[in-house]
Order: sequence, then structure tokens, then C-alpha cells
Amino acid sequence: MAMIEEILALKKERHATILAHNYQVPEVQDVADLVGDSLELSRAAARLDAEVIVFCGVDFMAETAAILSPHKKVVLPEKGAWCPMAHMITPDQLHDLKALHPEAAVVCYVNSTAEIKAKSDICCTSANGVQVVASLSEKQVIFVPDRNLAAYVARYSKKQIIPWNGYCYVHDHFTPEEVRAARERHPNAEVLVHPECRPEVIDLADYAYSTAGMARHAHASAAREFIIGTEVGILHRLSKENPTKKFIPASERAVCPNMKRINLGKILWSLEDMSTEIKVPEPVRLKAKLAVDRMLAIGRSD
Ligand code: 13P
Ligand code: SF4
Repeated sequence: MAMIEEILALKKERHATILAHNYQVPEVQDVADLVGDSLELSRAAARLDAEVIVFCGVDFMAETAAILSPHKKVVLPEKGAWCPMAHMITPDQLHDLKALHPEAAVVCYVNSTAEIKAKSDICCTSANGVQVVASLSEKQVIFVPDRNLAAYVARYSKKQIIPWNGYCYVHDHFTPEEVRAARERHPNAEVLVHPECRPEVIDLADYAYSTAGMARHAHASAAREFIIGTEVGILHRLSKENPTKKFIPASERAVCPNMKRINLGKILWSLEDMSTEIKVPEPVRLKAKLAVDRMLAIGRSD
């Protein structure tokens, strides 16, 4: 049997659903039941009627699914697929930051560990950070771990945003020169970038969106060409959904090696073996769930 057929047969047998992030390799996106951004995949994990969720993404994404769905088995096909930014703040560091700003609310980007979520008031993703901060009554907001998303949210808020100095090494690498050069080569293209990019890169873009926001915009826009300032994996989905439009990466170097660690063989093996289950200790899960649930009650801003 071809590997894809084996995966589909085992998926049925196990009552499993395969979720894939927009940065996954094409063949993984193509075998998934749902391809989406962090927010869409979190919502799906909570609502889906499946016994097993095969989460093709990085650690914090599978962890968020496990936080929301304690009665489902959540497997990450490659346990070594992790997001470096999510580990750039420790619970002790957050504890010290909170002690310095006792009046502040704590917002954690979903790209964070379960322990950090458990110590935060509310979670956000790149799709709803602005709305999450606006929903808070506090005038001061500690925002962890991404300094760039914090700066992006601060553009739309009168609150004092206190950022942590974390960053995504893929998005932080885009330069204004790359965006200017891409625009010169493609003067009719719209420039879409992710809010994890540096502020000076966002300043040069037409729009900043989460990965799902980019997919929606590309579909709705009358433009024929788009320069894409995020991880290159999303180009597969964009081109598949919009075959007559052209998508140009703002940088060919924008590859997240962790997202690329999952392949069809590992999906099949994880469904067979089930040994790569992601578990969150119950006391941490319950606290983290409060922060994620508060976020899920709020809509998205893109
Ligand atoms: P999205 O939520 O926009 O998909 O982003 C997740 C991520 O890891 C970006 O690097
Ligand atoms: Fe983490 Fe960046 Fe990879 Fe997204 S692209 S998973 S933020 S390292």
C-alpha cells in the first residue's frame, strides 16, 4: 500500500484527525484534514470529534491542543519539532517580570510553553493580539515572548506594552533591503508580512497578517502578484488555492527547520506507535486552559 493510503486507513481505524500548520511541507499539508494558522488549529482541536489528533506543527501547537482537549490523544509526529521562540522566556523570568510590574496584565503569545501560559492572564495569536490587548481593563500589559509582535500590537493600543526580548529567528531575519528589492522586481505586487517581522519591515509592507489572514487576503484581493514575508511553506497553500496568482517569497532563506521535521513517514509511524503523545501535567493544564479559553472567547482581527 502506498504510504498515503496507509496513513488514511490507520487514521480511520484510530478515529484520528490530522491538523497541519501552514508551514508544513507540501505532502503533509496535502494529507491533512485541516491546514491553518495557530488560532484556527487551536479552535479545531477543541471542537473536533476525534479520539486522536495528529498535530503536524511544533511543540507549543500540539501542547495547546492537549491543553484544550484532555480526553483526546494529541501526537506530535516528531517530538524534536520545537519553536525556539517559545522557549525564550522561563517561568522564573516571567515571575520576576511580573514582580517588577505588579499592576500589569500578562498576555502570552501562543508561541509559548504551557508553563508560561499557566502564569499568564490571557493568550493571543498573531491573528488576535490587538483585540486581546484591547479586551483588558489594565493600562499596563506585559507581552511575552515576542518583541516584534509586542511592537506590532503597541501600534494599535494606547496601553503601555512591556515586551519580553524574544523573537522568531526566521521572521526577525527579513530585512528592509529584501522587501525593497522584491518590490523593485515586482512593482505591481502587494506585500504581505507576518507580525513577527521587525517593525522596519512591517513599515514597508502593505499588510501584516497571520498566516491564515494572508491566505484570506490573497483569495479576496484583486492583485495578481504577492510578495510574501513569512515562512516559505505557506507558498504551497497560497499557490494551490489561487492557481492564477503569483506568490513571491520576500526571502528564500525564510525556512523554519523545525516545521520541516515532519514528513509522511513520521505521520504514519506516530499513528502506528502513538508514542509521541504530548501530555501536559494536569495542574499546569488547568491554569493554562484559563488563558487559552479567555483568548478563544475573543474574535480574530484579520
Ligand atoms: P500563525 O499563527 O500566523 O500561523 O503563526 C505561527 C508561527 O509560528 C509563525 O511563525
Ligand atoms: Fe517558531 Fe518562528 Fe518556526 Fe514559527 S517560524 S514555529 S515562530 S521558529
